[in-house]
Amino acid sequence: MSKQRIAVYPGSFDPPTRGHINIIERASRVVDKLVVGVLINASKSPMFTLDERVALLKEAVAYLPNVEVRAFSGLLVDFAKKQRAGIIIRGLRGVSDFESERDLANANRMLLPELETVFLMTDPSLSFISSSLVKEIASFGGDFSAMVPVNVKEAILNKTLKKENE
Ligand code: PNS
Repeated sequence: MSKQRIAVYPGSFDPPTRGHINIIERASRVVDKLVVGVLINASKSPMFTLDERVALLKEAVAYLPNVEVRAFSGLLVDFAKKQRAGIIIRGLRGVSDFESERDLANANRMLLPELETVFLMTDPSLSFISSSLVKEIASFGGDFSAMVPVNVKEAILNKTLKKENE
């Protein structure tokens, strides 16, 4: 393992939200390098392709010099090993996230005990935000602009317009 404190922050990011960016920003302050890992198979019908999700995240975190954005497939522990990371970062919005996150952390610890999962509590003002909520509001033409970075808002509006014109 490298002497540098390297962490991975994995997720589907379909789309990236202000909650994600808040976790990335805060995690980047407590590690030397943070690698945001974008899962290749987000869902069967993602709103954004892998390349789009990576590009949107890169743009949204460009102001953070110690953050990299990379795609990954397969097991998270293998991705973390490849990045020489000793830490997995996950955000907790509230108790509803707890059980699934505990299971994920325990499974990852079983697979690679030296990799620690560290949880950051989501900023309370952002804790109601989820990618699926953003997609639902967008699909009905509602205003979701407070929930996502500006570049993501533009990208969602472009997608929605394109769909309407099809
Ligand atoms: O943003 P999400 O969808 O909550 O992120 C879930 C993610 C990407 C962290 C999780 O699905 C994951 O790590 N997938 C990779 C496969 C893996 O390692 N699964 C957990 C070990 S059993």
